[in-house]
Amino acid sequence: MSGFCIEGGYSFEGEICVQGAKNAVLPILAATIINGGKNVIHNCPRLRDVEKTVDVLRALGCRVVPLGNTLVVDSEPMDKFTIEDSLMRQMRSSIIFLGAIIARCGEAVVSMPGGCEIGIRPIDIHMKALERLGIEITEEHGYILCRAEKLSGAHIHLDFPSVGATENIMLAAVCAEGTTVVTNAAREPEIVDLQSFLRRMGAKVSGAGTSTIEIEGSARLYGVDYTVMPDRIAAGTYLACCGAAGGKILLKNTNPGDMTSTLSCLSGMGAKIRQEKNSVYMSAGKRLKAFGTIRTMPYPGFPTDMQSPFLALGCTASGTGVITETIFENRFQNAEELLRMGADIRVDGKTAVIVGVKRLHGAVVQARELRGGASLVTAALGAEGTTTVMNAEYIDRGYEGFEKNLSMCGAHVARIN
Ligand code: EPZ
Repeated sequence: MSGFCIEGGYSFEGEICVQGAKNAVLPILAATIINGGKNVIHNCPRLRDVEKTVDVLRALGCRVVPLGNTLVVDSEPMDKFTIEDSLMRQMRSSIIFLGAIIARCGEAVVSMPGGCEIGIRPIDIHMKALERLGIEITEEHGYILCRAEKLSGAHIHLDFPSVGATENIMLAAVCAEGTTVVTNAAREPEIVDLQSFLRRMGAKVSGAGTSTIEIEGSARLYGVDYTVMPDRIAAGTYLACCGAAGGKILLKNTNPGDMTSTLSCLSGMGAKIRQEKNSVYMSAGKRLKAFGTIRTMPYPGFPTDMQSPFLALGCTASGTGVITETIFENRFQNAEELLRMGADIRVDGKTAVIVGVKRLHGAVVQARELRGGASLVTAALGAEGTTTVMNAEYIDRGYEGFEKNLSMCGAHVARIN
C-alpha cells in the first residue's frame, strides 16, 4: 500500500501538461475490438484503469503494445467473447465492453459488474437499451449472457442520460442493420471523442454532444490512428489544488470549452482565470470566497467528478457553501476524512453544508475512492503541517504522475510506501 505525504502551506507557481482523458480512452479502447484492425491510440494516460482495460483486451485475444503514452491495439486476433469475473471485479467500467464485444462477435458473456465505493451502479439502463437492438439477455450464476442473431437499429429513449449506457449503445449500433436513434443521450465531451473515433473507423455516427445521437450500421470498419482528448476532470482537480494552496498555475493540453461550469465556479470564488484555445491560466489568493451552492448534474451541468475536489476547496473558503450530489448516492465519504483535518462539514443525504474555516491542519487520512482521494490531497496542500493520505492506489486509478505534477508547481508532496 502506498500513500502521499504532503507538507501544506506552499503556494503554487508552475505549469502542468494535462493527461489524456481516462473516461474517453476507456470506451475508445473498447471500440478498437469492433474494427478487427490495428489501432494506434496517442495521448493515452498511464493509469491503473487503463492497465486493467488492457488486461481485458488481452484476455479477449487482442495484441496490445504499450509505448509510453501510446497504445498499439491489434484486435484482429480476438478469439473470445467472455470477460471473467476476476477481471470485471477489478474495474466495474468494463461493462463498456459489452456493446463492443456483441458488435464484433454477436454474443458476449460478462459477470455482473457490481457496485463500487460511490454507489451501487446498476446497469438496468444499459440492459434495456441493448435489448432494443435485438440482443437477448439472460442472467445465470452472476453472469450476463448476451446473444444477437442479428443486431437491428432502433429508437432508444434513455430514462436517464447515462454516460456508459450511451456509449454501449453507440458501440453495439455501429454493426446493427439500419439506423439507431438515441434520445435523452448523455452529452459529455468524452462521448463526442468516442464519436470522432468511431467516425475515423468508418462508422456513421452523428449528434454526440447533443441529447440525440444517430448511428447508421456500417459493414466495413478499419483500425485507426487516434489522439485522445485532454482530461477535463484531471485539469479541474489541478485547478482546485491551486485554489486550495493559493498561487498560480498554467494548464497546457487542455480544452477550456469542456470545463465551463468548473471555470465559472472558480471565477465566482474569486480566482482569476485566463483561457486560451488549449490552455487555462489561473491565479488565486490565499483564501477564496465560498462557492455558494453547487448542484452536480449531467453535462453541461457541474460534473459529479468535480464534486469531491470542490468539497475540499470549500473547507477553507470564506463563507458557507452547499453541495447537492444528484448523480451518485454515496459520494460524500471523504467528508469524514476532511473532518479529521478540522473541516466543518455537515452531510445530510444528498446535501453537504460546508462552513469555511481559516485553515485545516494536517492529519493521517484514508482515501477510499478515486475522486475522494484526490480531494484529500487538495485539502492537504493548503493545510497547516503534514498530512498523510493513505491508499494512493485509488488516486493512481485516475491521475497520471499526480505527485510529480503537483511538485512541479511548488507543492511538497512525496509518495511513501
Ligand atoms: C461515467 O460513469 C464515468 N466513468 C464516471 O466517472 C462519471 O462520474 C459518470 O459517468 C457520470 O458523469 C467512466 O466514464 C468510466 P452513468 P457511468 O451511467 O457511465 C445511474 C470517475 O471518477 N445508472 O452516467 O457509470 C448510476 O447509478 C468516474 O472518473 C443507473 O441507474 O455513469 C448513477 O447514479 C466515477 N442505471 C447515474 O446513473 C444504469 O444502467 C450516472 O451513471 C446506468 C447508470
